[in-house]
Amino acid sequence: MAKAKTIYFCQECGHESSKWMGQCPGCRQWNTFAEETVERPKHASSERPGSSARPVPLSEIEMKQEERFTSGFPELDRVLGGGIVPASIVLVGGDPGIGKSTLLLQVCKNLSIQNVPVLYISGEESLYQIKLRAQRIGSFTDSLSLLCETNLEVIDAVLRRAKPRVVIIDSIQTMFSDNISSSPGSVSQVREATSAFMQLAKGLGITIFIVGHVTKEGVVAGPRVLEHMVDTVLYFEGDRHAAYRILRGVKNRFGSTNEIGVFEMRGQGLAEVANPSEYMLSGKPKGASGSVVACSIEGTRPILLEVQALVCRSNFGIPRRTAAGTDTNRVNLLLAVLEKRLNLRLGECDAYVNIAGGIKMNEPALDLGIVLAMISSYKECCIDEKTICFGEVGLSGEVRAVNMAKQRVLEARKLGFTTCILPKVSMETQMGSQMDVEGIRLLGVENVREAAAKIL
Ligand code: TYD
Ligand code: MG
Repeated sequence: MAKAKTIYFCQECGHESSKWMGQCPGCRQWNTFAEETVERPKHASSERPGSSARPVPLSEIEMKQEERFTSGFPELDRVLGGGIVPASIVLVGGDPGIGKSTLLLQVCKNLSIQNVPVLYISGEESLYQIKLRAQRIGSFTDSLSLLCETNLEVIDAVLRRAKPRVVIIDSIQTMFSDNISSSPGSVSQVREATSAFMQLAKGLGITIFIVGHVTKEGVVAGPRVLEHMVDTVLYFEGDRHAAYRILRGVKNRFGSTNEIGVFEMRGQGLAEVANPSEYMLSGKPKGASGSVVACSIEGTRPILLEVQALVCRSNFGIPRRTAAGTDTNRVNLLLAVLEKRLNLRLGECDAYVNIAGGIKMNEPALDLGIVLAMISSYKECCIDEKTICFGEVGLSGEVRAVNMAKQRVLEARKLGFTTCILPKVSMETQMGSQMDVEGIRLLGVENVREAAAKIL
């Protein structure tokens, strides 16, 4: 017996309430509650669930060889943890127009060339529009089929009949089930659709990629529950005006998170950027003050970035401090450290810090880069172009150790840097016996004063 019930859901975070409220207690947004009817089946007391369930000791569980298969994009495979896992659900979130549909259509193309049966289900675009996009991307084989459909029951029937190996759902916010009265994109529809797809994925052994739109706060629109339900969550991000895009893993049941894949949007779709450091450093000005190359780690991968700073006399009583691509509070803190420990008169200066290329990085190892860029701009001196730095800066001005120092140094050497300023502790403990890696000079520093002395 099913009982229909009215529940109010917050459309931002999915908070449930039995009555309407002006402000959501979950996410503190105003006016986000919408009424939805849900049906809760009632268990008859005779059919108590769980009578046949049996816990299994860990040792009795058989290990199956995971047969992952490639998406044709090594960058995407790495973010997924080494390839596509059969019967998994992957959520791809991102701003509109960032290239989610393009990326997944290209995955379809790569899979269709490997003769993997793929089905692309679009609730947003017509077959004609998809064809137009496909023509820009390249040639496909017939193992890709397309379907324009938003009704879950119809999709369910099609999948059971066609049994593809990979399905793309573009997008989850357009899917709806007849059993639920609320409109597509509402919390209960999204939740229902995701759980239906999850059952299909596990039951039929299909890998499903789901596209999800993001809200202005940058999380997948609708409920956070969506992220809890799927196996893997990827975010596709980047500045819409810049060409490069970053695919970031934020949840992965089959691999590590914080891996990133870098792509570039071209006329023929997305192209992989195999060497992001080179890409990020292209266009670095020569002989300019306030610019230094720093090294950050994303996942397991070192990326070199240009940190820029502009420190100039303030025209107003209260100096302005802004940071693009990194945390403004961190920049304020580092300014205070410099003021106190190096006696720089930064209190009367505006300071602007920018990580070039529009990338966002918040790793503490960037601190030394920010500090040196600010000193360089304040003192109007240029830092040698072939110098790179990394290290965390503490409140007493000490330069603290960071992890994976060796990888960072090797990446710098690969790109032709000849000097590396790094925390002394990292140099002594992590670089092993070879204090100087061949081809690159290591300068260990203990505090910001020593670091500043190396560049002045
Ligand atoms: P799209 O995949 O439609 O974004 P999403 O599905 O995330 O909303 O991406 C569309 C943008 O990408 C669009 O603004 C045009 C651009 N684009 C290219 O620059 N080159 C291409 O080959 C394609 C297919 C799209
Ligand atoms: Mg799209």
